[in-house]
Amino acid sequence: MKNITAPMILEMKQSGDKITMLTAYSSPMARLVEEAGVQLILVGDSVGMVEAGYETTLPVTMDEMVYHTRSVRNGSSKALVVADMPFMSYQESLSEARRNAGRLIKEGRAGAVKIEGGLKASGAIRAISDMDVPIMAHIGLTPQSVHRMGGYKVQGRGKEDAEIIMEDARAVQEAGAFAVVLEAIPAMLARMITQELSIPTIGIGAGPYCDGQVLVLNDMLGLEPDKKQLKFVKQYANIGKAVKDAASEFKKEVESGHFPGKEHCY
Ligand code: KIV
Repeated sequence: MKNITAPMILEMKQSGDKITMLTAYSSPMARLVEEAGVQLILVGDSVGMVEAGYETTLPVTMDEMVYHTRSVRNGSSKALVVADMPFMSYQESLSEARRNAGRLIKEGRAGAVKIEGGLKASGAIRAISDMDVPIMAHIGLTPQSVHRMGGYKVQGRGKEDAEIIMEDARAVQEAGAFAVVLEAIPAMLARMITQELSIPTIGIGAGPYCDGQVLVLNDMLGLEPDKKQLKFVKQYANIGKAVKDAASEFKKEVESGHFPGKEHCY
């Protein structure tokens, strides 16, 4: 795989090549995802829910995002690493937004940042893109707005709501985003947005007509076998079961004296 850049992701839309993005939060997972040829690695603030065990993404801090971004970057050299801007890292002022985006690039060594919000976030998107930092937008279901939305619900179902999301899509493109994540919106709305925008759309729960698709790695790997997943998650592996089986085999072997064996001794 070549070194992936934001302009290359834009070109993929023009040439009709599907874009793939997965989240990762650690160096070994980033390495595996990159070796699989996935072009974009998202250090999502979902780290708060799937790794730290918070109920929402809201408690995630800038320091945590910098740490995970740096870890992912240490495991990947070719994929484009996109780091999420956590809640309250861009809302207070444009200078805060610029400073925090700069931290993810300088300290985390990300190649791009991602921000939640459409029209309302367009000032921050413009401010960051004016610093020549590639910025990905995220509209539709925006998990940092969970309290306003009253839960993780499909957005843009009615005509008026769909029009608001369409306006959000236009606003983020206009503000300088190089791509936009569409989360949990009807497939037909995602199709209209994808047809109208010149920047790529990357869907999660937004149907098949987007320019690319993204999933949260832990969910698609089945790391939490008992977790109730949203409809749009497809589980590609059962790593949770593999971990549990390995841990219980280890326990059995220690208890029975089969581990460590001769070959493990000095
Ligand atoms: O934080 C995250 O993992 C995300 C994806 C759901 C797109 O924003």
